[in-house]
Amino acid sequence: MATLRHSEIAGTGHYVPSRVVKNAELETLLDTSDAWIQERTGIQERRWFEEGIDTTTNMGTKAAQMALADAGLTADDVQLIVFATLSPDYVFPGSGVLLQRELGMKDHVPALDVRNQCSGFIYALSVADQFIKTGMYDNVLVVGSEIHSSGLDKTPRGRGVAVIFGDGAGAVLLRPSTRAGHGILSTHLHAQGEFAEELIVKEPGSNREGRVTVAVENQADMYPYMNGQNVFKNAVVRFPQVIKEALDANQLQAADIDLLIPHQANLRITQYVQGKMGLADDKVFSNIQRYGNTTAASIPLALSEAVQQGKIKRGDLLCLAAFGSGFTWASALIRW
Ligand code: UT7
Repeated sequence: MATLRHSEIAGTGHYVPSRVVKNAELETLLDTSDAWIQERTGIQERRWFEEGIDTTTNMGTKAAQMALADAGLTADDVQLIVFATLSPDYVFPGSGVLLQRELGMKDHVPALDVRNQCSGFIYALSVADQFIKTGMYDNVLVVGSEIHSSGLDKTPRGRGVAVIFGDGAGAVLLRPSTRAGHGILSTHLHAQGEFAEELIVKEPGSNREGRVTVAVENQADMYPYMNGQNVFKNAVVRFPQVIKEALDANQLQAADIDLLIPHQANLRITQYVQGKMGLADDKVFSNIQRYGNTTAASIPLALSEAVQQGKIKRGDLLCLAAFGSGFTWASALIRW
């Protein structure tokens, strides 16, 4: 059987809103403290969007434009958009078609939206990778963008969730690789629906008569609910598991990883995973301190910053891993 071609990341980009919200600002709203937030999550500040300036789509567009420029391409070279978000501009249509419009693409290229929350970017990357492997498309834009701040309960009742999430976007341009043994080596995806309600925004759900009225009556369920401790317990098991699965599939060891970019969920989760995998401090990338948890945007945002900071060089083994709502979890191993 002929070997399938494989894909590589040819460009990276990111964008964050200019409004910086430090923990001290949350102290005034949420009956919380800078000390609690830093000790439990590592977060020092996050970005919140500004209405009329930032949208999930236009942040994704800015990240995509940076990724395209980095790859030396223009929007007209793109043949497929894969857009991961849990916070689309509209209930429908998804943000993929809006991104296509904002990028001013002339051809009617397809736009696919992925809804896998914190694992959304790796799911989206995997989908893009499969399209490239089969030869259906060459240049695929993979975007993760989120606005959480408009949907958080910014009262003491919401403090367990509101302190964690932030807004931002990241993007990569994926294309066929001409270098043997380089690019995306594998992706691994998992889900466990029995825990669907452990991290959820329930309303406006479609499964009851008069969903809009029901949603308004159940306003609390329009905010994210998280069973933090259970999410944490599962995350620290699934992250190492899915990283090991990727390493085993490629006959590699944890010691071969040059840089791990985990989904930025909680610095304590990242540190636990780092310890479990036996990785040195300079082999794990974290920027949650500055952005909080930006779900589907967190990995491409971290990747783009890591590239900008010169932390990834040609030939490095890069591991991406994520865990979150669904539950879903995933990994990708990339030879840069
Ligand atoms: O993106 C992927 C999905 N998300 C995650 O991976 C997040 C996973 N979970 C977590 O990161 C942690 O569970 C949290 C950071 C959300 C919470 O940390 P925790 O150590 O699990 O705290 P807890 O929920 O057990 O709460 C401990 C205490 C409680 O007070 P009592 O009952 O001990 O008096 C909470 O009411 O901390 C209290 N608390 C807060 N206090 C100040 C909860 N939130 C806050 C807050 N500020 N923001």
